[in-house]
Formats: sequence, structure tokens, C-alpha cells
Amino acid sequence: MSELLSVEHLSIGIRSRPRRPWLLAVEDIRLRVRTGEIVGIVGESGCGKSLTALALMGLLPPGIEVVAGSISYAGQRLDRARPRELNQIRGKDIAIVFQDPMTSLNPLLRIGTQVAEPLLLHGWHDAAKVRERVLEILTKVGLPQPEELLRAYPHQLSGGMLQRVMIATAIICKPRLLIADEPTTALDVTTQAQILQLLRHINRVQDTSILFISHDLGVINQICDRLLVMYAGSFVERGPVTSIFWHPVHEYTKGLLGSIPTRHSKGSPLANIPGRVPAVGEKTAGCAFAPRCPRASALCFSERPPELDLSETHSVKCFLNDLESEMEYARI
Ligand SMILES: Nc1ncnc2c1ncn2[C@@H]1O[C@H](COP(=O)(O)OP(=O)(O)O)[C@@H](O)[C@H]1O
Ligand SMILES: [Mg+2]
Repeated sequence: MSELLSVEHLSIGIRSRPRRPWLLAVEDIRLRVRTGEIVGIVGESGCGKSLTALALMGLLPPGIEVVAGSISYAGQRLDRARPRELNQIRGKDIAIVFQDPMTSLNPLLRIGTQVAEPLLLHGWHDAAKVRERVLEILTKVGLPQPEELLRAYPHQLSGGMLQRVMIATAIICKPRLLIADEPTTALDVTTQAQILQLLRHINRVQDTSILFISHDLGVINQICDRLLVMYAGSFVERGPVTSIFWHPVHEYTKGLLGSIPTRHSKGSPLANIPGRVPAVGEKTAGCAFAPRCPRASALCFSERPPELDLSETHSVKCFLNDLESEMEYARI
């Protein structure tokens, strides 16, 4: 598998006014996605998952910027790309699907027009061919009666259908990397399962890599190969999904596993980890998770923990105060 996306030491800063100091919302993250791979990012709301996704697409809002590090796609530096170059890559090579289709789709435009837009932006001029491709993609994502859908407006469709339309729009130019930011969070469980199945199908048939973002480890488990656990702007644990599920090491990962949230608990604190994610600018000198961690020592409050390799593929950012069990794991 060749490397498609490579993010090194990426930090994202927020400031309320020019010349104010940057407050780091994402701090020194490293991320790699290879061709054909599905990589997950999981963490509670407010951990910096969406800002990371937006930074990869060059879509950060005003007042939020990449302040350090690099983003490379197929060897090309995206963080230094000019807007015209980014427009070429966006939609065609890298595409994104957001959580809420209603806020991404234009309520005044017909579905056919919206799905066709990336083709028009990337140089398709023949109306008959565009129509043919749009019908093909709508069928591919499992939408019935695509001919009629072309003329429909977003409000006439269910949430699940709208998310399929969003996915169709994202994959119509056959991107090599699809970023899916909580693509199933707004959907009921049955529809969620169908969308996950569709994403897996796209991954298998088109060899599209997927960066799958969710607050729900239960969902991540169903679709991802590798996983990054994000807390307060940092990746605190990374590894193959199976390793993390069988041997979670960071207390935050354990907490997420112990309270796989339901739709009803969305946004509420985790059942077995008291406290909440610190706001941007609230972080202290030590480990951001220390105030919520049952194993925290004085050191955890004063110094940033190192990243320790537990195996060739599994690592954790922690001082591992109760070393024994983790050392045993490392010897396996
Ligand atoms: N437009 C914005 N202006 C100011 N702060 C923001 C903005 N967007 C996000 N943030 C802050 O950045 C942090 C990370 O947000 P986000 O990436 O949306 O988290 P997640 O997607 O993991 O829920 C949060 O503390 C959030 O309040
Ligand atoms: Mg988000």
C-alpha cells in the first residue's frame, strides 16, 4: 500500500482577533493514510476532529489556521498550495462528507444540479455525459428512481437519502481519499448501518482510502482498519482497531470503550469518565487528560507525556504510571 496522505507535526491555532496569540485547538498531530485503507479518528465532541478534517481540505474558517507542521497528499504539500491548486485537488482527489446533509446541501437547488457540480468544476462540459454520470452515481449509492431524483429538492428526501446524495456528490469524481466527518451521527441505527456498508463498498470497489471521523467507537469498530484516539487536540493512542479494542492502554480510550454512546447520550459527558474536554486555551502544562484520569500522578500535571511504542503498530501518549500491566502487554 502506498502512502496517500501524510500529516506531520500539525498544529491548528484559533484567535479571536488579529495579533492576539494563537490558542492551539490541535497540537502536533501525526497522521498517515495509505491507499485503500480506512483510518478512524475518535474522540468526544470538542476534541478537534472536525478542525483536523477541515485543515486537510484547506477549508478552515477565518481566524483558524494551520500554525505548524505539514500536510502532504501524494507527495504534494497541501498546506503550501495556492487556492487554485487546492481547488483542483478538492472534490477530485480528496472529498469530504459532513455530518448534516441539510447544512451542506443547498435547499433551493435540485439534487441533479448539486450532484453534478463537482463534474462541472472539474471540466466536464458535455451535458449528456454529465447526466449519464450523475444517474450512474445515484444508482451506485443505492438511491431508487434516480431519474426522478434529479428533479427533486433536498426537503423531499429523508435523512438517509440525503446522506447518500452527499456521498454521491463526494465520490462522483472518484476521489482517492474520502474524509467522512461523523457521516452517520444524524441517522437512525438501521440507516447508519446501510451508510457504513456503502462506504465499505466504495472502499473495496474503488480502492478509495477513507478517513472516518466519529465520536462513537462502536461505529469506528465496524468500518476502520486503524484508529487514532483524539483528546483535547492530541492523538493519545493509535493502532490497529483490533489492538485498541483488545488492549486499550490510555485511560481515555478505556473510558470511550466503557461507554460507547447511544444517540441519546450524544454530547453528554461519558458515563465512566467524570469531567469534560477542556476548551481551547484551557489546557495546562501537563497531560490534558490528567484532571479526568484515575491514574494521574503529580508528573502528569506538570509535563506533557511522551509517545511510547507498545508494539510496532500500537502506541500511547502516557507516562504509564501503573507500568506493570502495560509492560506485560509490550512483551506479548
Ligand atoms: N469557528 C470556530 N471558532 C472558535 N472556536 C472553534 C471554531 N470551531 C471549532 N472551535 C473550537 O475548537 C475545538 C475543536 O472543535 P472541533 O474540531 O469542531 O471538535 P470536534 O469535531 O472533535 O467536536 C473546540 O473547542 C471548538 O469549540
Ligand atoms: Mg466535529
